[in-house]
Amino acid sequence: MNKWSRLKYSPCLPMGRDGRCVTASDEHIALSRAAAADGMVLLKNENGLLPLRGGKRIAVFGKAQYDYVKGGGGSGYVTVDYVRNIYDGLKLKEAEGKIELFDGLIGFYKNEMEKQYAAGKENGLTEEPELSQDMLDRAAAYTDTAIITICRFSGEGWDRHGEPYDGDFYLSRSEEKMVNDVLDRFANVIAVINAGAQTDTEWYHSDSRISSVLYAWQGGMEGGLAIADILCGDVNPSGKLVDTFAKRFSDYPSSESFSESDDYVKYYEDIYVGYRYFETVKDAYGRVNYPFGFGLSYTDFKISDIDVYKDGDNIHVSAKVTNTGDMSGKEVVQVYFSAPQGKLGKPALELAAFSKTGILEPGETRAVYMTFPISSMSSYDDTGKVQKSAYVLEKGCYKFYVGNSVRNTVKADYEYMVESDTVTEQLTQQAAPRRLEKRMLSDGSFETLEPCENNTSRIPSPASDASAPAEPAMLIDVYEGKVTLDSFIKQLTDDELVGLVYGQPNTGVANTSGMGNLEKYGIPNVMTADGPAGLRINKECEVTTTAFPCATLLACTWDPELLYSIGAAGAKEVKENNMGIWLTPAMNIHRNPLCGRNFEYFSEDPLITGKMAAAKVRGIQSQHIAASAKHFCANNKEKNRLESDSIVSERALREIYLKGFEICVKESQPWTVMSSYNLINGTRASENYDLITNVLRGEWGFEGMVTTDWANSAEEYKELLAGNDIKMPFGYHDSVIAALNDGKITRADIEICVKRILEMIMKL
Ligand code: BGC
Repeated sequence: MNKWSRLKYSPCLPMGRDGRCVTASDEHIALSRAAAADGMVLLKNENGLLPLRGGKRIAVFGKAQYDYVKGGGGSGYVTVDYVRNIYDGLKLKEAEGKIELFDGLIGFYKNEMEKQYAAGKENGLTEEPELSQDMLDRAAAYTDTAIITICRFSGEGWDRHGEPYDGDFYLSRSEEKMVNDVLDRFANVIAVINAGAQTDTEWYHSDSRISSVLYAWQGGMEGGLAIADILCGDVNPSGKLVDTFAKRFSDYPSSESFSESDDYVKYYEDIYVGYRYFETVKDAYGRVNYPFGFGLSYTDFKISDIDVYKDGDNIHVSAKVTNTGDMSGKEVVQVYFSAPQGKLGKPALELAAFSKTGILEPGETRAVYMTFPISSMSSYDDTGKVQKSAYVLEKGCYKFYVGNSVRNTVKADYEYMVESDTVTEQLTQQAAPRRLEKRMLSDGSFETLEPCENNTSRIPSPASDASAPAEPAMLIDVYEGKVTLDSFIKQLTDDELVGLVYGQPNTGVANTSGMGNLEKYGIPNVMTADGPAGLRINKECEVTTTAFPCATLLACTWDPELLYSIGAAGAKEVKENNMGIWLTPAMNIHRNPLCGRNFEYFSEDPLITGKMAAAKVRGIQSQHIAASAKHFCANNKEKNRLESDSIVSERALREIYLKGFEICVKESQPWTVMSSYNLINGTRASENYDLITNVLRGEWGFEGMVTTDWANSAEEYKELLAGNDIKMPFGYHDSVIAALNDGKITRADIEICVKRILEMIMKL
């Protein structure tokens, strides 16, 4: 195929075997189902109630069995041909003779849900209908074993609720009644939670009558089948939490500031996000129901022969994992380090590395190896307690813990001693807050922060000394090495140049616009498409795609190779539909359970976030499709996201909110990064020279192009000056030309952006 034929002509060329499409192919859907089962987390399984076997009789309660939520809403929504709900999954198992279902309930729930949909309620936002006494009695006469299902939906542009009985973080009154009705009548109760983020766990954690709980997340289009695979033991659960499940919503240190204002979010808890808070601050330790990294299996594993040692600049960890139970399964080995408190204060434990075993048969032992740089244990000193604007390894003893959750570890014998405070990387102050009054310290108290000035000044873009080619050149000539890109760009008029730094009209099945589109010079109009849970094509196009599980579930697999496969599969669907840029991975940090888009993001932990994102990017780009790591950065709340200012210390920015992006960029070089809508310390993300030019490109060596988020409120020429190369999905041609004529921006500034856009297109 000729370069860019798909992008130029949108041919109908299936990419599968024997002329078949890969889009929503059986193979991709099977991958989605397998991934879903791998990331669901078994939180509780007392009395070995699960797995269900031997034709056990079951009654399934809760509208979620029918109203199953495959993923979240907004740009992350995926249009599919079908969704398999929890009931569908269990019905299949019944057909296989594994269980028997009380059939009276499904008709009731189906009917009630269809009525609510017809009245305008959306999938996942319906009310729990009230069961009749008769129905409950009949179900109880059939069996003593019940499954309670609960689902939650959230989406882009709005946040969730965290008040008692809100039917969001907490159970609604009608859900609570349903749960109590079931608990009153059934001796064996299993709960299945279908949600994209944290919800209340207290109602089952503290109630011994609920003996098993599966946190099933939002598992994509066949998530209901994956749930049944786990409940019936066809898959042994191996998912581990990537977020701490606290006792109450108010236990999260960011809960108070989350709703303080619509105009700003003050990140007072600083670096103490998730387990960094709960494992460190004394009073918080007891506020956890299910810790970070936790997840049960139907078998038992022993982690032994732990060996930690230093070699060169890295810490190496090896261990053996033995399946000591009687069912095959996978285990996740997690390594945490504990740094000395020093002058800066540190989280008690931080994730350093992890490794998921493949399937281990009963009795089988496998060795795992992990390694991480010593420098990754440094802390960023933003106020100069040790050395200003530097990553430092404070003197003292660094300890290592190996296990299968942050709270179930063994301390390694080896300790790494740092004799004197050591600067591992000297940087400069970037994007610091002008005014953040206070921030949390490791004992849970707060220190006062002085106002600070940001003094970075923009370095003007150097003008290239190339001259236009003697004969008009096409982009393909650049690709083939006949003309340099600098020379190619010189032949463009100012109007043509400016026409390249904003989005272009949709073609084919695209709905998020394209970039490029200068036919005269053979620049294709490269379409973008949404993710992260799958290629999103609008319903009216009548092309359905594969809906993979939500990002949080995928992170709970702790399996970067799986993320690579999903990245590659999704990218093939993007390519087959003649698009070039997949707007994923989304990788903001789960600062608070209420962020409406947490389902699109991976974790509260930046290492997991960065590693998962990097793997997905590698998978996507293996198909010559551009990934777009988004939303850069600190977009941790949806309400008023276009105008909300994230006020956050430079230390928290660097150690938590930027760290995942840093890992992703350094490990996988995404071809594009998407800046976020929000402001960071007073400057819009897309106009943020400190973050885009100095940190992303300057410090981390990012080689790709930066796009805005869609239809933001920023000024285009200021974005270009900051290094944000393109405004999507459209731009303001005349205003950029005016800025050029007024000398607010130079042609050289725009040429650099265009160069990065064209370099990206040439990689496709
Ligand atoms: C979202 C992005 C998305 C874009 C295009 C925006 O509203 O924030 O994540 O990629 O729309 O749909």
